[in-house]
Amino acid sequence: MPSPTQRVRAYHERTKHQPEQSAAGPQGLDWANQPEPFRTWADSETVDLPLWTATTEIPYDDCLRPGTVAAQPVNLESVAGLFEHSLGLAAWKSIGPERWALRCNPSSGNLHPTEGYLVCPNLAGLEGGVYHYTSPEHLLERRARPDPERWSRAWQELSQNQNQNQSQGVLVGLSSIHWREAWKYGERAYRYCQLDVGHAVGALSFAAAVLGWQTRWLEAWSDDNLIRLLGLPRSEAAKAPEEESPDLLLWIGPEVATSPPLSAPLLAGLRGATWEGEPNRLSAQRRDWNVIGEIAEACRVPPDPDPPTPDPPTPDPPAHRWSPGDLPPLPATGNAEALRLIRQRRSAQAFDGVTHMTAAAFYRMIDATLPRADVPPLAALGWEPRIHLLLFVHRVEDVPAGLYLLPRRPGVVETLRGALDPEHCWEPVEGAPDHLELRRLQTLDLRDLSAALCCRQDIAGDSAFSVGMVAELEEGLNQGPWWYRRLFWEAGALGQSLYLNAEAVGLRGTGIGCFFDDAVHRLMGLPDARFQSLYHFTVGGPIKDRRLATHPPYAHLKRVIPRKSETGRG
Ligand SMILES: Cc1cc2nc3c(=O)[nH]c(=O)nc-3n(C[C@H](O)[C@H](O)[C@H](O)COP(=O)(O)O)c2cc1C
Repeated sequence: MPSPTQRVRAYHERTKHQPEQSAAGPQGLDWANQPEPFRTWADSETVDLPLWTATTEIPYDDCLRPGTVAAQPVNLESVAGLFEHSLGLAAWKSIGPERWALRCNPSSGNLHPTEGYLVCPNLAGLEGGVYHYTSPEHLLERRARPDPERWSRAWQELSQNQNQNQSQGVLVGLSSIHWREAWKYGERAYRYCQLDVGHAVGALSFAAAVLGWQTRWLEAWSDDNLIRLLGLPRSEAAKAPEEESPDLLLWIGPEVATSPPLSAPLLAGLRGATWEGEPNRLSAQRRDWNVIGEIAEACRVPPDPDPPTPDPPTPDPPAHRWSPGDLPPLPATGNAEALRLIRQRRSAQAFDGVTHMTAAAFYRMIDATLPRADVPPLAALGWEPRIHLLLFVHRVEDVPAGLYLLPRRPGVVETLRGALDPEHCWEPVEGAPDHLELRRLQTLDLRDLSAALCCRQDIAGDSAFSVGMVAELEEGLNQGPWWYRRLFWEAGALGQSLYLNAEAVGLRGTGIGCFFDDAVHRLMGLPDARFQSLYHFTVGGPIKDRRLATHPPYAHLKRVIPRKSETGRG
């Protein structure tokens, strides 16, 4: 029986796209069984969330400078803003009779497998408990109604353990419905779901930064405990809806938790809670992609020891060599407003093939991918970076076209050099800011090749630059097979940074999940699977599709004042 880590390696290999053969997927799309894009919990109490009306404009750059944005109190309005600007709708698009929603967070194929949950103590305007967020109606659906005394005791215990007032933050849990993605992408879908989780973490941490809040991933939660905390539907349940797989739990609030909220008191606080709601069925029939169930099982974060012991404190954030002061000011576009960028973020469908970006804009974008203490989105994940950027520079003023590498962890450059083709030149780049360890590997025109590598998608070559996110795969797996998920989360969070920074410099980005894995590795001269590219991204001057009409996200709600439903939505 292969070990979980061997199963992860095997999954990774079999889900590579090759120019001559794609990873196994459906032959054509089964439109009759296309999964519903929105999960709902029927017969649960609902809490309408107010739409954000604050008129204060927060400059995007301030969100990247810790301590600059005044912290908002934690209450119904601020939590509503947190969800609206991360997992909420950003627009509706239509062409003829077709109409579909876009959200602040992107998703492979716009399929949105990621679901969001709120776990909170009593807040002004919101009773404590566990809720599911549903974006089209911008409301919370009550999942767990804990015994009020027990729940307050649990949060009090947390505040004693942490020596701080726990209403200084909330927990947000993420889960994935793999079937939503597998319907279109088959076996490779598990990778895309993990990338989407990383994007959602990025989106939440930027939305939190607008509120002056911090976001921290809580490592010490096993998958089983997350299922219990969030009440996730499992396929073995009586009515067998589409299952949700636990992803992660985030602490979000004005105060950074010095140690993570403990699982034992919170789960004890839920003892005897009433669980509300029935999950909707997303498709009449679904095709089982067994490999997805197998990889999810291989990547499970193991159960806590029994009886549960206190969670260990979160490791100290990595020693950051980079300070916020390194951040170059926004070029050309000036001090863009954070919420405007968050709402206008879109994926480009096509690039014009002529737009050049300035070197300052380019350096700013890659600089923003470096981890810095308390700076979104990377501070949310907190671990030492395990992803490095392979840059295909096409149209950047004063930076010759060619292949470049940006190591994102101090000291890793020699390891990478030892692993890649010895023929690369590894020259430092003239004009690059000193703190970037950017290296030129080759000077050449890569426009056609980068499109070819990205499943022949022109957007990778018509851009100003494109990126491959190269992970230290073996190093990650040495820490446990579940690190496979985490590497994709890091890549997704990097993608979210690139999306928003592209908007900030007046350009547009697009995530690229479809690429020919080993062809990229051959270009780098990688002889083995120690390093693997997990995700690509491209940035350029977009061509607008004028056939599409755009509509505001929440015109159908006409709601500002919160309303608590009396009867539930049924
Ligand atoms: C993980 C991931 C992979 C993606 N892969 C591709 C891709 O290969 N090609 C492409 O054109 N767009 C790709 N996209 C962009 C999505 O199609 C896009 O996010 C989705 O349609 C929603 O549109 P929006 O980003 O404008 O909200 C990807 C997005 C994500 C998050």
